[in-house]
Amino acid sequence: MLANVSSPSIVNISDLRLMAEKRLPRMVFDYIDSGADREQTLSDNCTAYKEILFRPRCAVATPSCDLSISVLEQDFQLPFLLAPVGSSRMFYPQGEVVAAREAGIAGTGYTLSTLSGCRLEDVKQATNFPAWYQLYLLGGRDVALKTIERARLAGYSAIVVTIDTPVSGLRERDLRNGTKELLSMNPIKMFPYLSQILVKPCWMTQWLSDGGLMSFPNVELQDGPMGYTEIGPALEASVVTWKDLDWIREAWGGKILVKGVHIGDDAKKAIDLGVDGIVVSNHGARQLDSVAPTIRVLPEVVKAANGQIDVLLDGGIRRGSDVVKALCLGAKAVLIGRAYAYGLGAAGGPGVARAIDIIKSDVLRTMKLLGCDSIKNLNPSFIQFPDDWK
Ligand code: GLV
Repeated sequence: MLANVSSPSIVNISDLRLMAEKRLPRMVFDYIDSGADREQTLSDNCTAYKEILFRPRCAVATPSCDLSISVLEQDFQLPFLLAPVGSSRMFYPQGEVVAAREAGIAGTGYTLSTLSGCRLEDVKQATNFPAWYQLYLLGGRDVALKTIERARLAGYSAIVVTIDTPVSGLRERDLRNGTKELLSMNPIKMFPYLSQILVKPCWMTQWLSDGGLMSFPNVELQDGPMGYTEIGPALEASVVTWKDLDWIREAWGGKILVKGVHIGDDAKKAIDLGVDGIVVSNHGARQLDSVAPTIRVLPEVVKAANGQIDVLLDGGIRRGSDVVKALCLGAKAVLIGRAYAYGLGAAGGPGVARAIDIIKSDVLRTMKLLGCDSIKNLNPSFIQFPDDWK
């Protein structure tokens, strides 16, 4: 049975996280929840927001507050979009389709991961709002070209090229949970780890009724879609470098964002290569650990971009006030990942809708308390932040 996400006890994203932990097998929950190595950046991504303090304008009435934004010349009703999250179909049946639908209903965008369990066409069809496709070059350029063509035909309005994954980060919780062994489908290897699945019969029944899929239908190899166990070696064999951007741009011919920018110099490189936007991102702290939290490096990247392209940010956003802080520091929009993935894992569509609604009402309340009537009017004068954040 699905827990009720509308219950008054579900107040914030941490509450959805606990619900997801109850419903999902340990290895699936930890896939969402964990970061790389000692998970230092995982926690810093969130706590860094505490170092930013608001400077509200009081005695200001904002009866109507405009939360809409425009990014890459595309309009959204909310200043946050849904980030690419791999393997969402493991969290809930048809997970990517379900999340895209809820994004569209809320008036915001959805970014589909290459590591999707659903076909990209079905995902795009689920939403009337713009959807973006996150690209890895798994399987090589020919395979990627086929996907790019499919994404164009399906109506995706930007490609998001992730540049921080030359090798998969070390997710220690995945090792302890026997994720690789469980995905191997070899009963002898699976046996020591099976109990975490057997204690979640509801999840297992739903997963099996959804086809029990363990492949990525948008990565079409010669002998069929790429399987889960092939990802690690495939990522290493298909590292994205700056040299790839030219042909991706040529093959795609539309808007391109580069995701995984940590420093001003990389922002400048991306601009020189003609991209339309960048995402300040450390991959949700799942790749290189001990990098600075994204909000901490946002000022450096915004300065380097110098208004030439749109700068977005992801990482650590659990509250609407975090969204507003990032926008005050110059982000055009932010992407939320775990925040909605917990909702999806907790209860499917209603869980995603609840996550979006929690953050949306936080943003609205924060704007009113700040005395600011429009996202477009946010600026650094509404906050104070440490001097050494460049
Ligand atoms: C995929 O990109 C992941 O972080 O698991």
